[in-house]
Amino acid sequence: MPDFFAPIREATAIRVRDEHKLPIAIVGAGEIADLAHLPAYREHGLKVVGIMDLDRERARAVAARHGIPRVYESTAEIAQDKDVVVVDIAVFPWVQGGIALPMLDAGKHLLCQKPLSYDFDEAVRLVEHAEKRKRLLAVNQQLRYSESVAAARAMVKAGWIGKPFEMSWDFHVYTPWENWPWVAKQPRLDLNQFTIHFIDAVRYVIGDPVYAYGTQAREPGQPEQGETRTISVLEFEGETRAVLKSFHKNRAGDPRAEFRIDGTEGSIRGTIGLMYDYPRGRADTLELNSRVLPTDGWLHYPVTSRWIPTAFIGPMAALLEAVAKGGVPLTNGRDNLETLRIVRALYRSGEEHVVVKLR
Ligand SMILES: NC(=O)c1ccc[n+]([C@@H]2O[C@H](COP(=O)([O-])OP(=O)(O)OC[C@H]3O[C@@H](n4cnc5c(N)ncnc54)[C@H](O)[C@@H]3O)[C@@H](O)[C@H]2O)c1
Repeated sequence: MPDFFAPIREATAIRVRDEHKLPIAIVGAGEIADLAHLPAYREHGLKVVGIMDLDRERARAVAARHGIPRVYESTAEIAQDKDVVVVDIAVFPWVQGGIALPMLDAGKHLLCQKPLSYDFDEAVRLVEHAEKRKRLLAVNQQLRYSESVAAARAMVKAGWIGKPFEMSWDFHVYTPWENWPWVAKQPRLDLNQFTIHFIDAVRYVIGDPVYAYGTQAREPGQPEQGETRTISVLEFEGETRAVLKSFHKNRAGDPRAEFRIDGTEGSIRGTIGLMYDYPRGRADTLELNSRVLPTDGWLHYPVTSRWIPTAFIGPMAALLEAVAKGGVPLTNGRDNLETLRIVRALYRSGEEHVVVKLR
């Protein structure tokens, strides 16, 4: 049987060249740095020279666990460290800007966490400041690099489903938001923290929408402040459309975390394994039904890695390459503003019950 998928595997493989492995310092030794950033960086032999957290014990424990040589006392110490080229920020969204600006002034390139900010205007200021300082700012929207999503996009780009005209994300899961007390306290939750990934992935596969409308809701009596149920619709030029549904209160034991892309010559469908058993997860699935390739029925694509931690090498690898060679990383801040613009439009749509024109 011909190996149709060899070019897809090649297009999604990430290799970091030794000359791109510039020194990195991390701000924030929280769960995501510990479970995702650092394991992915270690797998690729990246050079993490130090870490800092307001919680010094936590910083020391994470440094010991991942063999990081230095624990900084403050962010100022990182800014002053001439050896540090890239700063990887993984703190709460509302403190990110206050750390990022002085780092840019000190000449550091940044990988910021998503959401870049809860406040769209602040996100714009950060991106403009990076441009003014001629430093690169990338955002950790690493779902684009998750193997199932990256492979699906590569299949679309190869023309295997013709022109894509419909993309859907359907999450009916139980998410224990109480594990992140700061998230549970936010007045806005799902779109800002979760669906933002899938909006970004829609943009990656289909492009930028023209209209957005959405509705956000809670579960009666839920402890979280923000929305835990959302439906979002994005309309593109022509009749192309994306629909994103998130429901985080499935206690029935039948989780669903699916995506699908339909095109004029075929379809792609997949599942996001992480959401079936967070944070352990299981492998994603991906299948292709193409009238372009000489196949009959659904063809299984063997996904070999998980979103967490594997995809977390993607944004950092692209940033390091851009710093070393020139160019801009895929998930650069300017691009990310378009994802944030959609999030902002959807909240406005839900609050005012209107369709929001994006461009
Ligand atoms: N890209 C993704 O898929 C993804 C997944 C989970 C979380 N995140 C994002 O990562 C960030 C961190 O999330 P987490 O789950 O690790 O949270 P966490 O609560 O586990 O960790 C946050 C850490 O930041 C530290 N911190 C807060 N303010 C600080 C400051 N001023 N200086 C230094 N350290 C500071 C805290 O002490 C804490 O250790 C959030 O912005 C979240 O949205 C992204």
